Amino acid sequence: MAKISASVYTSHVPAIGAAIDNGVTDEAYWQPLFKGYEYSKEWIKENMPDVVLLVYNDHATAFDSNFIPTFAMLTGEEFKPADEGWGPRPVPNVKGHPELASHLAQSLILDEFDLTVVNSVDVDHGLTVPLSLMFGQPEHWPVKVIPIAVNVVLYPVPTGNRCYALGKALKKAVETFDDDLNIQIWGTGGMSHQLQGPRAGLINKEFDNNFLDKLASEPEELARTPHLDYVRLAGSEGIELVMWLVARGAMDDNVIQKHRFYHVPASNTAVGHVILENGKQTEEL
Ligand code: DHB
Ligand code: FE
Repeated sequence: MAKISASVYTSHVPAIGAAIDNGVTDEAYWQPLFKGYEYSKEWIKENMPDVVLLVYNDHATAFDSNFIPTFAMLTGEEFKPADEGWGPRPVPNVKGHPELASHLAQSLILDEFDLTVVNSVDVDHGLTVPLSLMFGQPEHWPVKVIPIAVNVVLYPVPTGNRCYALGKALKKAVETFDDDLNIQIWGTGGMSHQLQGPRAGLINKEFDNNFLDKLASEPEELARTPHLDYVRLAGSEGIELVMWLVARGAMDDNVIQKHRFYHVPASNTAVGHVILENGKQTEEL
């Protein structure tokens, strides 16, 4: 049986990817940010999964106002890094897991989550920056990745509660896959930030720290946060945090927090990063 062993949560700012790609992570501006991921890069070496379910959002790169799925399962064999205006990032292609992804799609749809199935799409910084933060600059990504896209760009966007419920359905779906796979689920985006309009540059440390305080122990309370609160309190792009709730929903109720990090700013964003593990019973894998 496949099993989710751990979850990783991280912001996905494009400038972080550019800092890695251009070899400037040692600069004074970036040092404190990358220090927060040193533990994580060691932790992932010790806890290497077979497959990562990577919950991310596309930023009008592959999906736009012509068509935008609320939830999409990316079932392809391979995904190329997208050209977001400066050419594709110099990172490896992402290898998918079509068999598991198709199983997850079927299980979720039978569980009444009517998601979209997408086979071929290029993936933007929302997906590739978290991989770079956790794995650095390898020639090939060391894991297979099933991207799960959530619309947080074009309104109406799904509620945090719906995202949390999707996570619970994903946990069930994973546990009905026959192969013994060690799975992690990553929730990306956030924390507070707003990129446009009169409030551009908004950061809300109190909101973010409250979210970090409750992620492990009181996720239901976070799931009840109305989505307008994210926009009002955490800025128009703060709504990306609902993707963390998909990952948290897929974990056990009781989790062990291995790492917590918060840093302001990276570009226009408050960076948050957490690692949660499921309890002992997962060691029987
Ligand atoms: C920034 C942050 C994001 O989450 C994003 O998708 C794009 C830009 C930023 O802070 O620059
Ligand atoms: Fe974003």
